Amino acid sequence: ATHKLLLLPGDGIGPEVTREVEKIVGWFRQRGVGFETETDLVGGSAYDAHGAAISEKAMDLAQAADAVLFGAVGGPKWDGVPYAVRPEAGLLRLRKDLGLFANLRPAICYPALADASSLKREVVEGLDIMIVRELTGGVYFGEPKEIVTLEDGSQRAVDTQLYTTAEVERITRVAFDLAKARRNKVSSAEKSNVMKTGVFWRQVVSRIHKAEFSDVQLEHVLADNCAMQLVRWPKQFDVIVTDNLFGDILSDIAAMLTGSLGMLPSASLGAEDPKTGRRKALYEPVHGSAPDIAGKGLANPIAMIGSFGMALRYSFGLSDEADRLDQAIANVLASGTRTKDIAAPGMNAVGTQEIGDQIVKELNAL
Ligand code: NAI
Ligand code: MG
Repeated sequence: ATHKLLLLPGDGIGPEVTREVEKIVGWFRQRGVGFETETDLVGGSAYDAHGAAISEKAMDLAQAADAVLFGAVGGPKWDGVPYAVRPEAGLLRLRKDLGLFANLRPAICYPALADASSLKREVVEGLDIMIVRELTGGVYFGEPKEIVTLEDGSQRAVDTQLYTTAEVERITRVAFDLAKARRNKVSSAEKSNVMKTGVFWRQVVSRIHKAEFSDVQLEHVLADNCAMQLVRWPKQFDVIVTDNLFGDILSDIAAMLTGSLGMLPSASLGAEDPKTGRRKALYEPVHGSAPDIAGKGLANPIAMIGSFGMALRYSFGLSDEADRLDQAIANVLASGTRTKDIAAPGMNAVGTQEIGDQIVKELNAL
């Protein structure tokens, strides 16, 4: 089978870290894994070329691909461009048109990096949790959403938290499916003590659990307590499923358990195609275009390479290959080969390309 991968390197360090992924793709290709790749522009570079943050041609390629690998967009050069064509508009368009409702944010602590965490080594060493955030609904999108001026001249601001049965059901299924291939536990976070949407969320999750996933362990946890537990003893979690707002916050907390922004991959998945069973999917590092280090060969490519690893696992069904890539990354980190953002004091930091080269070397050795 051939796997169609669209590369959208974007701006700043995006192209630099994408080049390292291409080395890994090339390695797997040599080993007989069928990858078909295309590359196109997104973000500021697309704006410069086409006057839009993503072209219709690139959108067509994204629709046709099995997975999109997105670098990063934006930078000071485009700070003044009109709102509708700002670099982020490219990413928002992709999310919307591909229907990417499930955001997967793993927090993995490589043993070699346990000391880079904000927490103590014993709290994070060996950590491997997955936060599943609903990405297209909830209070960020609900209507009405407005600031209203009242008759007496004072104002009132409204955001609306809104979820439908179908929206909660589909994100719940993604979380349980993931848990089945992991440690078989889902923690659902909401605020059912004070919010109707929380009560509703809990009801829908419980119903889907009972009807379809009763062999998976389910716990309900209040979102504020979940935040505390993430910092107190994160290893108690396997998969955490939560709404858009809480997921935004909880995934950022979880991110800092594991060290640098340069280490964090993510995936955004869409609905399952009833014919093929495949989901539209976009994989991207959590970090941005890092203009402060762009063009210097200093960027850590592991967030981007890890995002490709997630594509291997979740889009291409290549979990052995994904495991092998994870092991290669862990070995490189353990050997002390690191970029500046994760180098321990006194350690010599290496550049972006050397990390890619070393990972390929480890892949060969494994
Ligand atoms: P950023 O993530 O680009 O950088 C924050 C800090 O982390 C910087 O000091 C940077 O050098 C460092 N950093 C980030 N990735 C790194 C890596 N792979 N290796 C080593 N160090 C790394 O966030 P910032 O500075 O807030 O935004 C810069 C630009 O990126 C802005 O134009 C922003 O709009 C855009 N951005 C784009 C995102 C996307 O494409 N999804 C997400 C976040 C920001
Ligand atoms: Mg955030």
